[in-house]
Amino acid sequence: MDPRLTERISRISASQTMAVSEAATNLRERGIRVVDLSAGEPDFPTPENIKEAAVRAIRDNFSKYTAPSGTSELKGAIVERHAADFGSSYDVTEVMANVGAKHSIFNVFSAMIGHGDEVVIPAPYWVTFADVTRYVGGTPVFVDTDERSGFRLTAEMVAGALTPRTRLLVVNSPGNPSGAALDDDEFVRIAGVCRERGVVLMSDECYCHFLYDGRKPFSIASRPEFKDTVVIVGSVSKTYAMTGWRVGWVLGDARLIRGISKLQSHSTSNPTSIAQKAAVEALRGPQDSVPEMLAAYARRRRYVVDRLRAIPGVTCASPGGAFYAYPNVSAAFGRGGIEGSVDFAVRLLEDRKVAIVPGAAFGTRDHIRMSYAASMEDLEQGLDAMEAFMRELGS
Ligand SMILES: Cc1ncc(COP(=O)(O)O)c(C=O)c1O
Repeated sequence: MDPRLTERISRISASQTMAVSEAATNLRERGIRVVDLSAGEPDFPTPENIKEAAVRAIRDNFSKYTAPSGTSELKGAIVERHAADFGSSYDVTEVMANVGAKHSIFNVFSAMIGHGDEVVIPAPYWVTFADVTRYVGGTPVFVDTDERSGFRLTAEMVAGALTPRTRLLVVNSPGNPSGAALDDDEFVRIAGVCRERGVVLMSDECYCHFLYDGRKPFSIASRPEFKDTVVIVGSVSKTYAMTGWRVGWVLGDARLIRGISKLQSHSTSNPTSIAQKAAVEALRGPQDSVPEMLAAYARRRRYVVDRLRAIPGVTCASPGGAFYAYPNVSAAFGRGGIEGSVDFAVRLLEDRKVAIVPGAAFGTRDHIRMSYAASMEDLEQGLDAMEAFMRELGS
């Protein structure tokens, strides 16, 4: 075969997290136990009622194609859940189901971004936002947030980054990788700047139910004045511990939904029929698993942040949500042959058998991402190892 790939494939890169995860896999294959704090997914199993719904769907032979954009039942469940949780008012022409939120993002960008369009992405950022922008021919414009203010985006930062070429602003609050959560008022100010400047705001709500310190989940779609300006992306993955089921959604203008539906009808077509039934149960069934998981994450967050802050040379902003800590470990750079966060991650894995993700993968130099979607035992061992590692480096 002719191995030439298209130019658009050369615009995207394999994630820098690959080096660490490949090294972790190699260790595991050699029978060595690795404490894995690199995962971007809940460590909880999918709740029983959701699994049961999927089993029922299989038994009932719910195994044919559905409408490419998802069943009416699922679309109804998505808009109802969103209305109940946030007070939004979408109808079924303004929603579609996708194969996970990653697919939703791919679809939205494919439908909205063309050559010459700029997409403003707050840094640190989840790497898919940048690579998908490049893939569809757009230009990512990164806005650095400040660690001292908890990596929170402000309306002033957004205003300073917009140009006549800006098509889209990405907001992911609470966010991956830093856990930063916008204040509701600031979110509204940011949406106001976007509306004024004719820019679409895409809000990735994948972690929206995991907010700490008693804060209530917020969606910018709860404010009717922004309905024309906002596209919402969400998924069952994190909220209901369903990462492998692959169901996500887009809520937005009916014209956008029609455009994406066309695209999806020629690519994946519908999300798996059985997973759609499971997602309906997740959205319409009992919601108790969500606060239970949140309470566990809250306990772990306190433990992780306190322990990180107690390590000499490490600083850590308090994550307002999600399940990640994003400590600054730059005090270790220039010591023991460690030049940056990738070296740090590789050495922590090789020397101490702890897997984390280097901040270089998320667009900042000085940090690492540590997931606390892990057992307390793993967190304790991981943090003991990190403390010993930093002590050994003398940072
Ligand atoms: C910010 C963000 N958005 C979207 C996703 C993807 O979610 P899904 O599993 O629904 O594709 C992730 C997964 O890590 C994420 O961190």
